[in-house]
Amino acid sequence: MSVAKKDYKRITTRSLIEMKANGEKISMLTAYDFTMARIVDAAGVDVILVGDSASNVMAGHETTLPITLDQMIYHASSVVRAANRALVVVDLPFGSYQSDPKEALRSSIRIMKESGGHAVKLEGGSEIKDSIKKILNAGIPVMGHLGLTPQSIYKFGTYTVRAKEDAEAEKLIEDAKMLERIGCFAVVLEKIPAQLAQKVAESISIPVIGIGAGGGVDGQVLVIHDMLGMNNEFSPRFLRRYMNLYEDMTKAISQYSDDVKSKDFPNANESY
Ligand code: KIV
Repeated sequence: MSVAKKDYKRITTRSLIEMKANGEKISMLTAYDFTMARIVDAAGVDVILVGDSASNVMAGHETTLPITLDQMIYHASSVVRAANRALVVVDLPFGSYQSDPKEALRSSIRIMKESGGHAVKLEGGSEIKDSIKKILNAGIPVMGHLGLTPQSIYKFGTYTVRAKEDAEAEKLIEDAKMLERIGCFAVVLEKIPAQLAQKVAESISIPVIGIGAGGGVDGQVLVIHDMLGMNNEFSPRFLRRYMNLYEDMTKAISQYSDDVKSKDFPNANESY
């Protein structure tokens, strides 16, 4: 399918708002290291998210809660060195912004100064409004994150679809409007009904990036390990797998191991 695309040399928060206004969908993927980020950037993805999903896919934790600010800065600085075109957004990890606005600002400043990232992302709505305002007042761009917020997994107890009930849907719409009003440049909506997500996208002028939020929003984000099929155990309905890297890599690696054991590798041409 052909896509209407303006040729952006460098994606900024303004480019994303312009894309929404022009009806151009925004592509976003996670990356956590230099090599992967270089491929994602070269492939023309608009936004690279250094997600706290690094806690799951890079470190093997069950939830996103254990990852630290120092670890996020390490991942983000590797990604920033690879990104020539994409906007790099960095998640504020659990425990680095919830206690008060000053802590939220301090953590955001560390991310911007020590990683060179271009923006931060925080999970939550009205509960963290003052923290978001404080960060924005310091000139740091903020992406919001509503719907399923994995840092609150122990409060909700499940990763099921959020905002199916009217009261939660109303709060989500109000929170999205508030994020726009106070100056966020975009908002992620995770795992909510497609109709609700579209309604939010139509009621605010900043881009709405969905994950499990249907096609009526302004862009999509996936975790790169999931869309490349590196993890066979995670297969939510919203995930499209573009490769089965788990299988391909396992084959290649076991072939290598067999070649070493059978003394096929290295051969004469591979030796000095
Ligand atoms: O951490 C992450 O990867 C995210 C996406 C799922 C949006 O926040």
